[in-house]
Amino acid sequence: MLDVLTRFAPMLADGALITLKITLLSVSMAALLALPLSLMRIQESRFLRWPVQLIISFFRGTPLIAQLFLLYYGSGQFRPFLMEMGLWGFFRDPVNCAILTFTMNSMAYQTEILRGALQSVDKRSVEAGKAMGMPMNLLYRHIVLPLAYRTAFPALGNEVILMLKGGAVASVITVMDLMGQTRRVFSQSFDINVYLVAAAMYLIIAIVFVSIWRLFERYLNRHQSH
Ligand code: ARG
Repeated sequence: MLDVLTRFAPMLADGALITLKITLLSVSMAALLALPLSLMRIQESRFLRWPVQLIISFFRGTPLIAQLFLLYYGSGQFRPFLMEMGLWGFFRDPVNCAILTFTMNSMAYQTEILRGALQSVDKRSVEAGKAMGMPMNLLYRHIVLPLAYRTAFPALGNEVILMLKGGAVASVITVMDLMGQTRRVFSQSFDINVYLVAAAMYLIIAIVFVSIWRLFERYLNRHQSH
């Protein structure tokens, strides 16, 4: 097992870097998109709520692997159009397709997490701000959003871990992420231990991430006595 490992370690390390890049890029872009969407999602107006709801249902209600195939293979149907727009090269790169799919998928989940957190903000804090004559934008910036993010924080950390592991499906559209490299090494060595090593690497990344997230969480809650 050891000789196989030393021979293939660089490939696995390469893969782990790609996995990290895809996961971090996707979840952070998704976080940026989720904020406006979750705010739209809690509006009275149907015209603001419904489109968001439709997008969320699609990305939460269909398998990630189907979304990935639809984008990567489906974009082939629009070749003339994409070429015209200069986007053909972009969609032929499986890493781009993975990042785009995971961003949309995680966006849907994060929007729902944030919506729940926004709705759980104590109405009295909002009333207090209003009573002091705070305008809506300041009220959101200084009261509602900080409270909502603190509530959402553990669930958002969980979402990153889910994306890290769920991202392993990118290997089916030939992305050479950690799973992709592992499958390649296995097909060359037929050493089943390589899957064990890959699992350990995913676990280590997850544990490191969770520790960092805990530190942040402690920082966010530093003024809380309970
Ligand atoms: N295995 C799940 C699926 O196929 C992963 C989706 C989880 N996505 C997320 N952003 N939490 O749909």
